[in-house]
Amino acid sequence: MGTYTVVLILVVMVFILNLTNYEVDGKQSMSKEEDLELDKQLTILNKPPIKTIHSSWGDIYDCIDFYKQPAFDHPSLRNHKFQMKPNSELKSGSGETSIFRTHVEKCLQGTIPIRRTQKEDLIRAKYLSLSTEPMYASPHEKFAGILYKNEGETLFGASAKMSIWKPSVGLDQYSLAEISLRSGWDNQYNRIHVGWTVNPLLYNNDTAVRIFLYWTSDNGNHTGCFNTLCPGFVQVNPEITPDHPLSTTSIYEGIVYELKYHVYLSPSEKKWWFVIENATIGYWPAEILPRFGDIGVERIYWGGHSMDNEMGFVPEMGSGHLPDENFGHAASFTQIQYDNASGNLLDVSDNKLTEIIGCKKNYGMDSYGYLDEQNRRHSIQYGGPGGVC
Ligand SMILES: *[C@@H]1O[C@H](CO)[C@@H](O)[C@H](O)[C@H]1NC(C)=O
Ligand SMILES: *[C@@H]1O[C@H](CO)[C@@H](O)[C@H](O)[C@H]1NC(C)=O
Ligand SMILES: *[C@@H]1O[C@H](CO)[C@@H](O)[C@H](O)[C@H]1NC(C)=O
Ligand SMILES: *[C@@H]1O[C@H](CO)[C@@H](O)[C@H](O)[C@H]1NC(C)=O
Repeated sequence: MGTYTVVLILVVMVFILNLTNYEVDGKQSMSKEEDLELDKQLTILNKPPIKTIHSSWGDIYDCIDFYKQPAFDHPSLRNHKFQMKPNSELKSGSGETSIFRTHVEKCLQGTIPIRRTQKEDLIRAKYLSLSTEPMYASPHEKFAGILYKNEGETLFGASAKMSIWKPSVGLDQYSLAEISLRSGWDNQYNRIHVGWTVNPLLYNNDTAVRIFLYWTSDNGNHTGCFNTLCPGFVQVNPEITPDHPLSTTSIYEGIVYELKYHVYLSPSEKKWWFVIENATIGYWPAEILPRFGDIGVERIYWGGHSMDNEMGFVPEMGSGHLPDENFGHAASFTQIQYDNASGNLLDVSDNKLTEIIGCKKNYGMDSYGYLDEQNRRHSIQYGGPGGVC
């Protein structure tokens, strides 16, 4: 065979290989196998509904029998004892959740609403994962917040009040505020992220402000997901879903709306509960996050987190304004606390905090230490207008 023939065969092979892939969203391409795999995942995730709710914000919710929710399909949860409420009283969040959008229709008792997953949701989510600290993040992700290390302590949860804003975000970017908890090393991280976000990439071009959760038990294999896009997180709330949109956001120099978030381990139940104000959203069974096991959480991050677009522009973070000690201007985290091994909520100490500001040109972060004023306790401001870093 001459060189020419070999080149020709290669060209034809490349052409044929290309034919078996097709374009999705103009950007990524997917093989037949991946497509079939997505179909399989969809049948696992979308259970036969007892009732279907068409929400005023366009999402479809299926009311699923509590014990038949997709969380149970996680291979580690075959023998898991599910529960609908924490055994103990809520330790935090006495406030209410009136800034959540409300369903006109409700699910019947014993069933919970689950946002119906479309194939496009899975495709989008496949190409979207969150990193933790800047040290391990892709160069496209930017952070402005504080990092707490577990030196000499065992951490079993994290909490804070976050102010809620509506940053301006392009269809090819995301902006979020989060508490993230991490343990593990190399490609073996366990992580939980909770917060609020504007994420058109994840929500079908929707720029509404929504709560979100994200978790992974094995960074290397990309297991885990946002919200309920994979089995694992057990939803217990009869109304508020992990992707729930908010109806009201803070106004510059006006009313500041805040939500108190708390993620904590209940050692007797072996569950990581997720609570916002007085609403228990659900839990992660401890068996799907083995690295959190005995050592608890090694790192906690409170702050903003965004992703740039192909032109290198980062979106607004927080309120879109830089920290200036005025809580009606820049976004904030107040009452920054962690749970110790006995389940007490404690204020973070300054000497274990690392300040993080990615994209200093366009984002800021100010850690104010312990402010007693208006019961703010340990507080930070973060965020900014975005732009090219
Ligand atoms: C989202 O918006 C982009 C840019 O306008 C468009 O190309 C894309 O088709 C939209 N995607 C969906 C799912 O509507
Ligand atoms: C990823 O999954 C494969 C196959 O299930 C497994 O052998 C491997 O250990 C996993 N990788 C990590 C980093 O856990
Ligand atoms: C939270 O508090 C509000 C106002 O007191 C109340 O209407 C709502 O039912 C409570 N929600 C839960 C889940 O307890
Ligand atoms: C947790 O904090 C409480 C209150 O400061 C303290 O009494 C308790 O000993 C701490 N538990 C552990 C395991 O350090």
